[in-house]
Amino acid sequence: MKIGILGSGTVGQVLADGFLKHGHEVMRGTRDPAKVAAWKEGGGAKAHAGSFAEASKFGEIVVLAVKGTGAEAAIELAGAEALAGKTVIDATNPIADAPPTNGVIAFFTGPNDSLMERLQKRVPAARFVKAFSCVGNPFMVNPDFGGTRPTMFICGNDDDAKKQVAAILESFGWDSEDMGKVESARAIEPLCMLWCIPGMLRNQWTHAFKLLKK
Ligand SMILES: NC(=O)c1ccc[n+]([C@@H]2O[C@H](COP(=O)([O-])OP(=O)(O)OC[C@H]3O[C@@H](n4cnc5c(N)ncnc54)[C@H](OP(=O)(O)O)[C@@H]3O)[C@@H](O)[C@H]2O)c1
Repeated sequence: MKIGILGSGTVGQVLADGFLKHGHEVMRGTRDPAKVAAWKEGGGAKAHAGSFAEASKFGEIVVLAVKGTGAEAAIELAGAEALAGKTVIDATNPIADAPPTNGVIAFFTGPNDSLMERLQKRVPAARFVKAFSCVGNPFMVNPDFGGTRPTMFICGNDDDAKKQVAAILESFGWDSEDMGKVESARAIEPLCMLWCIPGMLRNQWTHAFKLLKK
């Protein structure tokens, strides 16, 4: 498939490389294409670079991998029309520009709010699915936990979009757990805080969540 990735940061790069590795064609979007020029050079014929608007238009699926505080602005630049009807994988977290407290990072959203709800309200016709937000980027694509597949918690309003994302996660070596509609991002986004605590307190960054069931 054609994947548009909004984000010139590490997450954009890791997911872009993951989609290329799994045979997809990728365009990375940024306000400054010079930031992804080297990646494009090394990425081969299926790697492209453009603006946020070009990448969102290019993608049959769009991935949002931008700084949380810039996510609404990035979606504006991407364009509601280009995103309408498309699955938008939302990897963002609403991390505030404030220092952590005893290892707990600060969010700019409250408990009865989430960044993905704000994005979904801004572009009602896009099919947002939260994914990749609750693990560090080194583990996003085909993580090796000694044969155990970790769990990626996903949510969103559109069942078909969630099935599409679950299939991508399956190919990226993840089990996915559908946690419901867009409001469930209120519970999924803070998993980022939990995931980061061992890193902030003890420099341990090599874990992922697994939902045990019986
Ligand atoms: N790092 C991780 O391991 C990890 C894990 C899970 C989730 N996440 C989440 O994934 C997202 C991306 O993280 P990251 O570490 O790759 O990079 P990042 O530094 O958080 O984000 C870089 C991207 O944000 C865009 N951006 C920043 N401010 C903007 C604004 N005002 N308007 C429009 N775009 C803006 C930048 O645009 P330009 O390209 O134009 O500069 C760039 O593409 C974040 O929301 C983060 O919380 C990160």
